[in-house]
Amino acid sequence: MKDFVLSIDQGTTSTRSIVFNRAYQNCGSGQMEFAQHFPQSGWVEHEAEDLWTTTLETAQKAMKTAGITADQVAAIGITNQRETAVVWDRRTGQAIHRAIVWQDRRTSEHCARLRADGHAELVAERTGLLIDPYFSATKIAWLLENVSGAREAAEAGHLAFGTVDSWLIYKLTGGKRHVIDVTNASRTMLCNIGTAEWDADLLKLFNIPRSILPDILSNIDDFGTTEPDLFGGAIAIKGVAGDQQAAVIGQACFTPGMMKSTYGTGCFALLNTGTDRVASNNRLLTTIAYRLNGEIHYALEGSIFIAGAAVQWLRDGLKMIGKASETAELAAKADPGQRVYLVPAFTGLGAPWWDAEARGAMFGMTRNTGPAEFARAALESVCFQTRDLLGAMRKDWPGQADTLLRVDGGMSANDWIMQRLADILGVAVDRSASTEVTALGAAWLAGHGAGIWPDQKGFAADWHRERQFTPSMEGAERAALLKGWDSAVQCTLAFGK
Ligand code: G3P
Repeated sequence: MKDFVLSIDQGTTSTRSIVFNRAYQNCGSGQMEFAQHFPQSGWVEHEAEDLWTTTLETAQKAMKTAGITADQVAAIGITNQRETAVVWDRRTGQAIHRAIVWQDRRTSEHCARLRADGHAELVAERTGLLIDPYFSATKIAWLLENVSGAREAAEAGHLAFGTVDSWLIYKLTGGKRHVIDVTNASRTMLCNIGTAEWDADLLKLFNIPRSILPDILSNIDDFGTTEPDLFGGAIAIKGVAGDQQAAVIGQACFTPGMMKSTYGTGCFALLNTGTDRVASNNRLLTTIAYRLNGEIHYALEGSIFIAGAAVQWLRDGLKMIGKASETAELAAKADPGQRVYLVPAFTGLGAPWWDAEARGAMFGMTRNTGPAEFARAALESVCFQTRDLLGAMRKDWPGQADTLLRVDGGMSANDWIMQRLADILGVAVDRSASTEVTALGAAWLAGHGAGIWPDQKGFAADWHRERQFTPSMEGAERAALLKGWDSAVQCTLAFGK
């Protein structure tokens, strides 16, 4: 009986594979970290081979610990770090260079030139994105310009580009398939998100030959079958989505107005706007949430660069705490009379500010300010930034963005911060019973595609929260806190200008 789904979650710092049974339970998993390469300031690379070998090894380990064989797996689902660009040679199956990671800033100047030349409007209109090194297009252009012989090989049809999903599918199918799903395609800055097709004008703008691009498929689709020798039998790959979109799916945020926020090192918040493609006037991104049954659903997306990283800074930078989990207790002891704010713009500020030059600042300190106030300020900064995203979403989509928020990611396990989040947002915050929503989202796509799990409605009915946090702060207190935060952000943005 095909009672299991293998979900592969290829993330920025580690690769995880999980086997789910029909009851959506995790019955075996594997996880491996891999090397991060920083060849120059602002550059971030991964060995494409590491992404592949950690995928294969963790997937084999997950199946082994679950005690299952390939013929028991209904399908494979894949989710992945988005935007990261891999270019490989079809003749050898080898990457021509390390993958350029989404965090990499080497193409800042290229992006600035494109903006100065007035291309921002075209790019936003076609892709829903801002011209930024974050997305794949300028990374691909960089590889074609800087790897010796790459441009000629690409023109001759020998090279293939893919985000990490495409690369893994290519390897899993023994080089037979060169495909990408719609959500990953929507992050390349080459895809027209109205039609979910590659855009000829953008390919021209970025000087990228069409021949290197994969075919765009829906989130549940035929992505090929694995080479039999990898898992002791062929397994169909039936579901794929970029990791933030997979979390939207895993949180069953299928109804317009539902929003999910994943708190890891940074935070990504996505608001489902249904079949409405809402253009942002507040510097959020418009992106494809999923395409199921032929219908594209969109999301407004905002990202915060520093969430869990603020706690890491307290622990590793300031050495104020020994363990991340200590922050909640410490923050709870902070003096309520002190309004201390941290604006953690360590690497600039993300949405809705998008100021790469901004740098972090603390405000409101007195002689009595100590580790407890620092801890509270660090945790609250995550809540305030989420509120800025929600505020921008409400402005972009008035009257619609008022439903509750579903949260996941490591930091969502912290009760203190989740209560504070509900208080600062003034909306209820639901924490999912599943601690693996991203992998579960990809698993559901594959399992539903393979016919072992129900449709969206049925899956949404099976979604459970572990706990709901409801706002309990007085309106006046919230308003005063937010006023302080807003002025702290304005001072931070003004500093050094
Ligand atoms: O857009 C980048 C995002 O997909 C990376 O997510 O979880 O691998 O850091 P993560």
